[in-house]
Amino acid sequence: MTEAYVSVQDEVKTTGPLTTESGAPVADNQNSETAGIGGPVLVQDQLLLEKLAHFNRERIPERVVHARGAGAYGTFTVTADVTKYTRAKFLAEIGKETEVFLRFSTVAGNLGAPDAVRDPRGFSLKFYTEEGNYDLVGNNTPVFFIKDAIKFPDFIHTQKRDPYTGSQEADNVWDFWGLSPEATHQVTWLFGDRGIPASYRHMNGYGSHTFQWNNEAGEAFWVKYHFKTDQGIKNLTQSEADKLAGADPDSHQRDLREAIERGEFPTWTVQVQIMPVEDAANYRFNPFDLTKVWPHEDYPPIEFGKLELNRNPENIFAEVEQSIFSPAHFVPGIGPSPDKMLQGRLFAYADAHRYRVGINADHLPVNRPHATEARSYGRDGHLYDGRHGRAKNYEPNSFGGPVQTDRPLWQASAVSGVTGDHVAPSHAEDNDFVQAGNLYRLMSEAEKERLIANLAGFIAKVSRDDIAERAIDNFRKADEDYGKRLEAAVQALRG
Ligand code: HEM
Repeated sequence: MTEAYVSVQDEVKTTGPLTTESGAPVADNQNSETAGIGGPVLVQDQLLLEKLAHFNRERIPERVVHARGAGAYGTFTVTADVTKYTRAKFLAEIGKETEVFLRFSTVAGNLGAPDAVRDPRGFSLKFYTEEGNYDLVGNNTPVFFIKDAIKFPDFIHTQKRDPYTGSQEADNVWDFWGLSPEATHQVTWLFGDRGIPASYRHMNGYGSHTFQWNNEAGEAFWVKYHFKTDQGIKNLTQSEADKLAGADPDSHQRDLREAIERGEFPTWTVQVQIMPVEDAANYRFNPFDLTKVWPHEDYPPIEFGKLELNRNPENIFAEVEQSIFSPAHFVPGIGPSPDKMLQGRLFAYADAHRYRVGINADHLPVNRPHATEARSYGRDGHLYDGRHGRAKNYEPNSFGGPVQTDRPLWQASAVSGVTGDHVAPSHAEDNDFVQAGNLYRLMSEAEKERLIANLAGFIAKVSRDDIAERAIDNFRKADEDYGKRLEAAVQALRG
């Protein structure tokens, strides 16, 4: 042992002897064991081997999307009576509080990517309710780029690294968007002012999809969730973000943790848009199309809750990296809609969790129910903790094990027609451009200028004219002026 090491240890009160993973006291954590002084290292130095082997296994696969994120615990409080719409117990009374865990993220970047980038932000919320965990795995945008889950892997491939260059490529991004006109609305949103939030605290969250609520009487409603930031919306311009991303890659993660440490707990006002099921068939937009919003004049948002984040996780790996959220985690009174994107997501997340964290991921402290317990007949597998003891592992049984309730979480929906690879139905005012054009026309002149500059800066990097032209054409279809200005701005940059 070196003298310096001994003197530092003498000053600090330790928590007792250091041990191996199996609990045996460690004599020397500085020098590995050798055959003689200066000789080769011995296999019997099990501490050395254990440390090196454990270190090699510290990583688990990062999330295939939304790899980069930060989380915090908090409370959801009901502020209005919604019992005529849903029988979910955590929403049953005004003033009722439910513990939550919220993970924010960016989408395309890998685990070490900077926070201050132009990208949607994930808004994954886990409500630890007394009827099981309810996960709402949303974004900071009310819409999305595509409307069928079958396109998701292709879409994400264009956002991530090219197989040859190993970088994100403007060619791939704009080729896919140009060939997927339904993306025009979300792309307009993303390249507008809200495309780079100043922090996770200064942005809204949205459930984005349409979900079903159902009440005690068995009546169903279609709903959309909105989480409006009480901190106010604050964004970064492209050049502010470029500087911040370089100077402080952890900007958003740090901002959230430090605000909570200061006792400045961020809050969001929670709203819901409610559509009677009878309206859906004849609504002017397909209400299950994720590239469309329901304009507020059609279905005004109703405030029903307050979300507050007030506790930082103690251990980022255990509580953030290993946290799992699934759009299929519903509770009684809440269920899916036939949105084709949502239907794909109902499969994708739990499948990702089994690969990324393991079959017993739901048993980890951050993931398991906190206000009730899971009582299933699922057993064993990697890292099973023996929680079921000697209880029977089959059902039905005559030994008093848990039994089914005979009441589905959500109401059945009527369906008709024949199976097939059907395009989602179009309603009276539907097309891929109408809401993108409306959003553009809502912007102030200064916002339009920033939008055009942001888009043009990226489209100008495309190497082929046909890809750039097809991309611009979609914006022209949304609004003639939008397309004309974009074309001129791209031409000016490309020369
Ligand atoms: C069919 C389309 C989609 C598919 C197949 C898909 C798939 C996935 C997968 C596999 C993950 C990683 C999960 C994990 O490893 O734990 C993920 C993460 C995530 N996705 Fe999606 N996604 C889709 C669309 C969306 C949409 C539309 C939204 C938002 C409205 C969204 C929000 C998120 C968020 C917030 C996360 C991060 C979850 C976390 O914090 O752990 N995704 N997605």
